[in-house]
Amino acid sequence: MIKPPLANVNGILHIDGVSAVKLAETYGTPLYVIGESKIRENYRRLAEAFKRNYGKTRILYSAKANTNLSILKILKTEGAWVDVVSTGEIYLALEAGFQPSQILYTGVSVSEEELSYAFKAGVTINIDSESQLRKLLRIGVPHTLSVRINTEIGAGHHEYTVTASKTSKFGVDEKTALEIYRTARLAGVEKFGIHMHIGSGILNPDPYIKAAERLLQVAKNIHEVAGVNFEFVDVGGGIGVPYRPDEEEFDIEGFADKLTVLFKEKIQSCGLGEPELWLEPGRYLVAESTILLTRVNMVKQTPYRKFVGVDAGFNVLIRPTMYGSYHHVVVANRLNAEPAEKCDIVGPICESGDFLCRERLLPEVAEGDLIAVLTAGAYGYSMSSQYNSRPRPAEVLVKNGLHEVIRERETLQDLLRGQKTASWLNV
Ligand code: LLP
Repeated sequence: MIKPPLANVNGILHIDGVSAVKLAETYGTPLYVIGESKIRENYRRLAEAFKRNYGKTRILYSAKANTNLSILKILKTEGAWVDVVSTGEIYLALEAGFQPSQILYTGVSVSEEELSYAFKAGVTINIDSESQLRKLLRIGVPHTLSVRINTEIGAGHHEYTVTASKTSKFGVDEKTALEIYRTARLAGVEKFGIHMHIGSGILNPDPYIKAAERLLQVAKNIHEVAGVNFEFVDVGGGIGVPYRPDEEEFDIEGFADKLTVLFKEKIQSCGLGEPELWLEPGRYLVAESTILLTRVNMVKQTPYRKFVGVDAGFNVLIRPTMYGSYHHVVVANRLNAEPAEKCDIVGPICESGDFLCRERLLPEVAEGDLIAVLTAGAYGYSMSSQYNSRPRPAEVLVKNGLHEVIRERETLQDLLRGQKTASWLNV
């Protein structure tokens, strides 16, 4: 798992040329450290794999994976557009310098206030229900609109991250989509897209390809029945990355080849013209760029188990607790030590579900050691919280030996932000 941007330099973990030990000493722990080069490398690999087959491919970074402005800006300079899900993400994408036309907003269970914000901001809206369309048309008529289709073919690393199935809350069926396009066109919408997102953490491309085929079939039917032309076909995000040492990586080039062959064949045989092909990767672009550094506070041997207590709990990285996700861990200041025994790495949160890993074979670990949790760039910081009133950690960006804070560690004062004591308690 120690591969670029990571390196083992005399037993010390380095990221993009910087020692993890030095970073932890400089900025404290817990600390998210993001290697810029890996984000750029993965973006370029994905873009190249598609564009060599189909020039009109566009990659929208799914900001929910990590909305740090520096990450948004890195991807913007690479040519990415952005996929957002909330007013907050629209706001941040605009702050990062994306044009409204480069932002696709996909919401589910959307309030009128949120839709109004999206409409006024001028971003492209991806409709998830008939009620959402009715709400939107009461606010105004956008120039372009997209509709999220439930392909009923889903995939993902955990049932919570599968977002297309018969029982999914996301998207609409073909018949409903047809009504939405008809109503939107009658209202004066001029340009259209069609969208799916079937799930997250997909390592087998087959369901993804099958769902895309289904999406293109729906596009064909809607084109034929309602005469709708599509400016773009968005196949969503979901590309997985290997978290375990024995996991195969997703075959990006093979996937791109298969998907674009299908896409070109379908748009031609279905008379869909030459729509742009959009993808919305989050995890693939950022997961492998980042490590979480956390310091060992205690080592506890019980009659049954050995616990390594660190300063990052599920307030900092919730994926192991929430999905049972595997994250590889290494002792960053002792990479060359031999594995010794199985331990649970646990955090400081007052719940037994607070662990980073369980029964993991680790070298001898001592208080003060530095643990690095790998592949922590997607849904790590963005899902962190202040639970147990613990200020959130800092984020540091590294690039070829340079390192800078891109998000300050929260302070105790941040725990008071926005709080007010009720007037009747001020005695
Ligand atoms: N597009 C839409 C509409 C989405 O809902 C998502 C993710 C993506 C794109 C990007 O998916 P990705 O390429 O990152 O797989 N918290 C979970 C993942 C939830 C993903 C939610 N939607 C986790 O930590 O695994």
